[in-house]
Amino acid sequence: MSQAAPSSARPIRFFHRGRIVSVPNLPPTTTLLNWLREHAQCTGTKEGCNEGDCGACTVLVGELEGEALSLKPVNACIQFLPTLDGKAVLTVEDVTQAGGALQSAATPSPHPAAAPSLHPVQQAMVDCHGSQCGFCTPGFVMSLTGCYERHQAAGTRPTRQQLADDLSGNLCRCTGYRPILDAGQRMFELPVRRLDSQAITAALKVLQTDPPLNDAGFHAPRTLDALATLRADKPEARLLAGNTDIGLWVNKQFRALGEILYLGNVAALKTITEADGQLQIGAGASLEDAWAALARHWPSTREMGLRFASPPIRHAGTMGGNVANGSPIGDSAPVLIALGARIVLRHRDTQRSMLLQDFYVDYMKNQLAPGEFVQALRVPLPQPGELMRAYKLSKRYDSDISGLAAGLWLQLDGDIVGAARFAFGGMAAIVKRAAGAEAAVIGQPWTEATVQAAMAALDRDYAPLSDLRASASYRQRTARNLLKRLWLETRPTAPSGNDEVSVWSDMT
Ligand code: FAD
Ligand code: FES
Ligand code: FES
Repeated sequence: MSQAAPSSARPIRFFHRGRIVSVPNLPPTTTLLNWLREHAQCTGTKEGCNEGDCGACTVLVGELEGEALSLKPVNACIQFLPTLDGKAVLTVEDVTQAGGALQSAATPSPHPAAAPSLHPVQQAMVDCHGSQCGFCTPGFVMSLTGCYERHQAAGTRPTRQQLADDLSGNLCRCTGYRPILDAGQRMFELPVRRLDSQAITAALKVLQTDPPLNDAGFHAPRTLDALATLRADKPEARLLAGNTDIGLWVNKQFRALGEILYLGNVAALKTITEADGQLQIGAGASLEDAWAALARHWPSTREMGLRFASPPIRHAGTMGGNVANGSPIGDSAPVLIALGARIVLRHRDTQRSMLLQDFYVDYMKNQLAPGEFVQALRVPLPQPGELMRAYKLSKRYDSDISGLAAGLWLQLDGDIVGAARFAFGGMAAIVKRAAGAEAAVIGQPWTEATVQAAMAALDRDYAPLSDLRASASYRQRTARNLLKRLWLETRPTAPSGNDEVSVWSDMT
């Protein structure tokens, strides 16, 4: 396999404040937030939690997807600066309005005498009193600007609920959010101002001609083969995907990472395809795209996807990272295991696959061999007679780690349960199936008596722990109740029209 001749160490280059900036010689775990505030004097981007939770540090990251410019909200506090190489970074300083385009050094105001007017997002926040202490405001302005640009480009308008979903990664302790949601609607009533995307697109095309970053501490290959070679040659290097787990290891645990192998620039890892009856999710696909693909086939997973962290985390984080990290309360694994997903592992030219349920061997330990990486997840597409539910229980509705997560799947032959996969997270050291509860339903009619037997069997499947997210008894009781909920929602006499009803129920 060829591996492009390693370039000499070169500076990190990305588009910022209207031009291409070059940043040499900073430690690879320097966060974007630290660079913005300490080195670029862009102090409009705030630091609140420094762990991806509050949204005060939200910026927009621009990349080319084909010819189109995609702008995604991202938490600057947990993104290492080299991951921005080749991309565009828009901060609140850029959201200044003069003459119909976002103010940036590359496009000076056509009316220099005119004081820059506010961007419609900023004007709407003023009109609706969307800011009090102002600490959260820059983060909200960036999330709203991303929403504004997306809907202006599509000619659509967000519902109030969609606005709330878009802002679920931004916390405000002063306003009570209503004025900010009002501003999210008002911004579309003001004279339209669009981003000058040409300047950014042109810069991104120039940046695409740079060689991959490949210096002593940070390698960012662009092809699967190059990734596979580097991974096998450097099995000790830390694989970095979306940075949303690893970012906290550095910010909160002060861990030294050593050499980093970043897979975020490998386009082939980000693809989501359907072939041979399988949905294939590339390990580098964003959580946002991966959950959207699952929801297209299993609508009942949509809520789990919306409640997985927040938009900035879902746009940066990957489903490959979630399953590889292997937290026992990770949300993807219960759903994927219930759906019978297989995980595809790669070492140099060789691939192997296994059921995801067999990938985990003990707490935070998995089957990955040295030099191997997760290449994809393969999920069998739904068949007639399947019923699927995904449930996430957490203290906060939005952006909260689960106390308990469940993926519950049945195959009905008429009203007899032909097959079942019940996977729970938060109930053991790894995400695992409830073998006893499954055995209690298979071959039985799907009735309340059957589900009662499964609930009783569940007590013998797990011995959950108590921790800050939930007590053992809460977990045991709610796991049983989720089985009951599954039956209530999928029993033959269940009220129809509920979007939780499997798309396949009309095929039974
Ligand atoms: P990274 O942080 O880049 O890597 C995570 C681990 O996986 C590392 O050990 C890395 O080496 C390894 N890895 C990554 N990709 C591969 C690969 N292809 N092959 C082999 N190893 C690999 N998680 C949930 O489940 N539910 C939530 O609701 C949730 N909410 C969150 C909220 C916040 C505010 C934050 C900061 C995190 C949250 N998370 C949540 C955790 C995290 O976002 C997810 O686990 C995410 O999917 C991790 O993916 P990543 O790409 O960012 O991984
Ligand atoms: Fe809170 Fe980044 S500082 S999300
Ligand atoms: Fe004070 Fe939002 S205005 S935190």
